[in-house]
Amino acid sequence: MMQPPVRQSDEGPTWWKTGVVYQIYPRSFADTTGDGVGDLEGITSHLDHLSGSPSSLGVDAIWLTPIYPSPGHDLGYDISDYASVDPLFGTEANFDRLVAEAHRRGLKVILDLVVNHTSDVHSWFTASRRSRAGPYANRYLWGDPAGTDRSGRPIPPNNWVSFFGGPGWEWDPIRGQFYEHTFLEQQPDLNWRDPGTRADVTAMMRGWLARGVDGFRMDVFNAFLKDPELRSNPVRRGRSAWTRQLHLHDKDQPDLPALLAELRAVVDEAPGRMTVGELFDGDVGRAARLSAERHLVFDFELLQAGWSAAAMSRALDRREAAYGPDRWPTVVLSNHDQPRYVSRWGTGLDRDALARAAAVLLLTLRGTPFLYYGEELGVPGIVVPNEDAIDPPARRAGPDFAWWNRDQARAPMPWTGDPGASFTTSRPWLPLSPDAATRNVAAQRADPRSVLAFYRALLALRRATPALHAGAYARVAMRTPGILAFRRRTADSRALVVLNLGRRDLTATLASDIAAETWDPALGTHGSSPPGIARSGRINLRALEGVVLVALDAHAR
Ligand code: GLC
Repeated sequence: MMQPPVRQSDEGPTWWKTGVVYQIYPRSFADTTGDGVGDLEGITSHLDHLSGSPSSLGVDAIWLTPIYPSPGHDLGYDISDYASVDPLFGTEANFDRLVAEAHRRGLKVILDLVVNHTSDVHSWFTASRRSRAGPYANRYLWGDPAGTDRSGRPIPPNNWVSFFGGPGWEWDPIRGQFYEHTFLEQQPDLNWRDPGTRADVTAMMRGWLARGVDGFRMDVFNAFLKDPELRSNPVRRGRSAWTRQLHLHDKDQPDLPALLAELRAVVDEAPGRMTVGELFDGDVGRAARLSAERHLVFDFELLQAGWSAAAMSRALDRREAAYGPDRWPTVVLSNHDQPRYVSRWGTGLDRDALARAAAVLLLTLRGTPFLYYGEELGVPGIVVPNEDAIDPPARRAGPDFAWWNRDQARAPMPWTGDPGASFTTSRPWLPLSPDAATRNVAAQRADPRSVLAFYRALLALRRATPALHAGAYARVAMRTPGILAFRRRTADSRALVVLNLGRRDLTATLASDIAAETWDPALGTHGSSPPGIARSGRINLRALEGVVLVALDAHAR
């Protein structure tokens, strides 16, 4: 069998490539002040869960969603001051201690960089709306009305709409012009063609880097630049105002790669730092094209695939074709914007078994895994009725604007089975997950068969096996429907992953050349004696069973 080529990175530290990033939603991790909302001290006090102690999960970095001052219209994604910490989460000293404690445990710290837009109470916006002259005049995207309607009201400059429903322009009576907003009207978009924007944002980035931050997750980064002439988007058929447009002019502009290179250069001023961009409303091809050395891009191909071997194989093939062997993808199965995978894929399935099988995908596919807090316990989504929704777009959902309530994926982390799950001593800002009394860190730490114990074991195997954290990938075509199999390899390490994604026990047969190699079933989802491959190439897998096999020769090294 032809083996895929092996490529080694020629750069120094590659934690961003071989490591595992743990995403923390600070509001929901741990509350130390008793206000029902998580805070920075809460994160610091639970770092042992992640790294540095014998019972730690064993991840390499944490990504914190926004921690900056914000009126909270989009729960922190509407920032009113980029250079400091929201008092809701603690003090500047709390932040510096968090970074120091993380670094002491070998954990890198990634912050969210939300610079497509600011809050409408940011001082830049206040200055910009007050005057058409001066340093902030062009900081945002302002436009004159295209005319007036029959009742004399100003008509927006073009047809752009907001991703969060409704028009993409808001009339500002103070300045007498419209401003553009891709998200809420409380989130005006910055004008990235204004040199002041570049200067102030890069100065802010340098400030955080100087405080020890190791990288940034760049929110909706492919929307930073818009058409300089503010042309209307072409229209097409679609189910919502957003999908009825071809977004040619309000994102993905030709000069984006040059801007990204500028921002990257700032991050590159010291070695070992990275960025990861969140691709906004685009396909895997675009994600791959925008990725670069030390700049990862989230694509949501796997997250959006159905839970079946056929759907996953197709998604993986599309990804591999898009990235090719030289570009490095990310692996994301859940995040703060999407339903948690155990709820999304889990209808009628054993939740623990699904969580373990999905963990195999997350941690053995090629790419940098991003593990969403609670995923390591198999925490499900919560049910939040629309009338109680906190997520702003969910509150304005309607016939022409379907929206998934993101509160459901943001429940507090269950630490123990105590009331409040030891997340808080008061009323949590969102309900606890329904099974928090039994599905929590303390209970799973005590149970060697728990989802948490499996994540830990798999993370340890991944760390010890170069093929799993750095190897090239090749899917193994299987004739048995329901089975997904792939290989990973470096020059001296080989791994084979075989997964039954179906609801029935199956026997699969691997090609004779693979069966002829010597494989050690190093870890399985269903207990301490994972199935091996018979000489005939046969392997028996129960429903949702997965096994990670490593080559014996490599293992012996
Ligand atoms: C990104 C964030 C999301 C936020 C949006 C607007 O998609 O992940 O949570 O609402 O940007 O900032």
